Amino acid sequence: MKIHVYETYEEMSRNAAEEIIRLLENKPNSVLCIPGGDTPKVMLGFLVEAYKHGRVDFSQAVFIGLDDWVGIGPEDEGSCQQFLNSNFFHQVNAKKENIHFFDTMNENLQDECQKQDEIVKKYSGFDLMILGIGMNGHLGFNEPGVDFSLNSHVIDLDETTQSVGQKYFSKKRVLKHGITLGVNHLLNSRMVFLLANGVKKAEIVKAAVEGPVTNANPASVLQQHENIHYYFDKEAASLLG
Ligand code: PGA
Repeated sequence: MKIHVYETYEEMSRNAAEEIIRLLENKPNSVLCIPGGDTPKVMLGFLVEAYKHGRVDFSQAVFIGLDDWVGIGPEDEGSCQQFLNSNFFHQVNAKKENIHFFDTMNENLQDECQKQDEIVKKYSGFDLMILGIGMNGHLGFNEPGVDFSLNSHVIDLDETTQSVGQKYFSKKRVLKHGITLGVNHLLNSRMVFLLANGVKKAEIVKAAVEGPVTNANPASVLQQHENIHYYFDKEAASLLG
């Protein structure tokens, strides 16, 4: 376990981005998972800038989507897919055929889960999964109470997720279900980065890093990962002992 604490959100984001660039230098066909949400926004900006300066090449990298809101389409504002397309994929040279999102509009979501699990298997798992942490400790949409042995699954969203999630939408949306990679995928990833910034995350970060490992706080499971790197700004890390 490595805990990296930075003075600012920008510093945290730049350092995480530099590690991703280094990974791709060493292994250009790395298999990566990048989350949606506010947390990775500035890190993605650094990656786009590095690409524009010729410092990183995404042409061989494989990207597998972490999660998304069921029933909210790829073009819809607020979906993870839309966020990642506009903030990252459409600005770099990642190949379309190497980007694998959940299709949240598929009527058979079990098929979607199976499809995504097969893709993870085909690429022999992840080299790096980058994660944010929800206000309730969720990772992707692995919500409190989740079974840690699961791979991809559909889940009823926790009340906290339903209300916090409204911030991604300009008008109120009903957010009942999510589709997500499972904790089993995260634990089998060869490396994991958990990013958090801001004082509002301080309590959940403390519980995730220093509290008991429990599915009441899914992020606590990462304590059991042997190659977990936490990237925090000073505020998110402010309650750590
Ligand atoms: P945020 O979301 O980055 O918008 O805070 C994190 C999460 O819910 O996983």
